[in-house]
Amino acid sequence: MPISARDNTWILETEHTAYVLGLNTAGALVHAYWGERLPGAADYPEPPDSIFHASFTGPGHMWPEEYAGLTGLKYVEPALTVTFADGVRDLVLGFERAEVDGEHLVVHLRDAHYPLRVELHYRTHVAHDLIERWAVIGNDGAPLTIERAFSAQWQAPIGRSYRLSYLSGRWIEEFQLHRQPLSPGVFVRESRRLTTSHHASPWFTLDDGATEEHGEVWFGALAWSGNWKLAAEVTDFGRTRLSLGINDWDFAWRLGSGERFTTPASVGGYTRDGFGAASRALHAHVRDAVLPHGRSPHKVLYNSWEATTFAVDVDSQTRLAELAAAMGIELFVMDDGWFQGRNSDDAGLGDWWPDPKKFPDGLKPLIDRVNALGMDFGLWLEPEMVNPNSDLYRAHPEWVIHFPTRARTESRNQLILNLARVDVQDYLIDVIDRLLAAHNITFIKWDMNRNVSEPGWPEAGERQREIWVRYVEGLYRVWGTLRERHPNVVWQSCSGGGGRADLGILRLADQIWASDNTDALSRLHIQHGFSQMLPAAAMEAWVTDVNASRISLEFRFHVAMQGVLGIGGNLLHWSEAERARAAKLVAQYKEIRPIVQDGELYRLISPESASPYVATEYVSADRSEAVVFVFRRIGGGADAMLAGYHAIDPRQPAALKLHGLDPAARYKITGQGPARSGLAWMRAGLTVPLGHQESKILRVRRVVG
Ligand code: DGJ
Repeated sequence: MPISARDNTWILETEHTAYVLGLNTAGALVHAYWGERLPGAADYPEPPDSIFHASFTGPGHMWPEEYAGLTGLKYVEPALTVTFADGVRDLVLGFERAEVDGEHLVVHLRDAHYPLRVELHYRTHVAHDLIERWAVIGNDGAPLTIERAFSAQWQAPIGRSYRLSYLSGRWIEEFQLHRQPLSPGVFVRESRRLTTSHHASPWFTLDDGATEEHGEVWFGALAWSGNWKLAAEVTDFGRTRLSLGINDWDFAWRLGSGERFTTPASVGGYTRDGFGAASRALHAHVRDAVLPHGRSPHKVLYNSWEATTFAVDVDSQTRLAELAAAMGIELFVMDDGWFQGRNSDDAGLGDWWPDPKKFPDGLKPLIDRVNALGMDFGLWLEPEMVNPNSDLYRAHPEWVIHFPTRARTESRNQLILNLARVDVQDYLIDVIDRLLAAHNITFIKWDMNRNVSEPGWPEAGERQREIWVRYVEGLYRVWGTLRERHPNVVWQSCSGGGGRADLGILRLADQIWASDNTDALSRLHIQHGFSQMLPAAAMEAWVTDVNASRISLEFRFHVAMQGVLGIGGNLLHWSEAERARAAKLVAQYKEIRPIVQDGELYRLISPESASPYVATEYVSADRSEAVVFVFRRIGGGADAMLAGYHAIDPRQPAALKLHGLDPAARYKITGQGPARSGLAWMRAGLTVPLGHQESKILRVRRVVG
């Protein structure tokens, strides 16, 4: 039984972990335990009371509340803030009842005076060692305003000092991993940009001395693709708590009588096995429970953007498609430039029908040609956007996000359609539905190339601040409806690279374009950060011509082969010999992709380290096979010292200790001599000598006897 209840205490158990909450002697719903699963119910601590008296502060400030309202002498971050119809802004949440249904616990709270109810939902994901939490706020009284409604407050054990890990970055430098000690106060990571953003990701870990494969780590993520906030708080009484949810910045939601507001879900987990295990738990969860197409292998794609930019037509695309097909590519994606009036980035967005000059007979001739070459056909769209120079904008200037008395700030010459409006949603559903119904299109790259400005929604009057949430709900509705109507289409989430990468969008999108930066060396860092939160099966990675004169084709391929492989270089400029080498690498990828896309990731040498090497290992679920990628970023001597890769003598080979193998089984590894036990490869390890910017893929195979 994953959830058990005893004396108003609820014990949520997963395969290896437990999470305990309950009522303390004052009747407050508090957090009691989050850590390793213990043998019996009696082993878990009681829900804590405050342990001492402090003048100027009430006891509620010191309890680790599961979902704090704002009342009394309490100054910590609340989970929920509201203004009632009469102006009261005090929220006293008391326990009403709880229900357990298999893996799902609902705790019902109610305000002491007003008919405002809060349901706290907890779902155990037993095999993934994760707890999923969300809240539902219901109002049976006069309309009130919600000013903040977080999904969860995650409490870490008291009496320790923690380090927070988070992902931060910017366009073409997404997912940079940071680790920093937390000190008293609140440290905030957030998005105010309408989307998840390139700048920060809704993910965290807490530790007090963990390494990649050892030590305690508490971690979590938020399934939301709009403005979000993470408030990491160390209280003045030594408690560390992480609040995670929709951003309360500029947010207000009117909750009428009989209405309910549901927050997005946050998942959280605990492990004793370091950052690697935390990532693997999230990866397994995303693969098994979030990604729409489950475990089917993602196809190797070619994308035309870097080759032809806006200059697409049947001839240019056919020439690329012929070369791509000969290299073993399975999916040909035509990027931007194919629709009405689109010759540069200053026109056309919104008019989603083929440009008659470029495609006089529509898209069918090109799609037929691509299909005849044995490939699927995919198409680029940017549904949420409109250029002022488009038929759509000329017909509906009121459909964009704007304030009537203010300029409409353009970015990349475009404005954002207000997807909070149902008429806009319906229009997009209709136009894209017709496009997909009329063509054999099995892949859509869904792009989004700007952030918000002047976040107005004039028709909504006093409810305008709901736009932050209603926009995202509208996006989910449009995308979800299209998914339902076209179940065979595979969807890519792109927002100028990795601007929309989160567990919410992955219920709709099958894969994410991690960055517009395709330089292989930068990509090692970007992919490392991405892998903290999301699995290789969701990470699209292309080989392009960026820095091709300095970085070998093999190195560029090997970097991209750590995710869902794509090619984005201009094949017309590749020599026959290069295309032949690329074809071999594509064939090799097809052999290893079940292990990469569905296997367990072990990060052997981090690009954050001072080693000149970077290495990753993917192990198949049955542990019969593994694939190891090893990269040497720079050669030996002064160059390496200057580049800062100084932790080991750069003339040394990469020294790797593998993980995840069956210790008793025997494995053979490419170029490493006779078979040895899994334990030997994991404890004694192996060495791989590489030269300047050289890379290698090692296959690890279990042998019998
Ligand atoms: C931004 C994307 O990240 C690129 O891959 C490309 O699709 C362009 N948009 C097209 O405008």
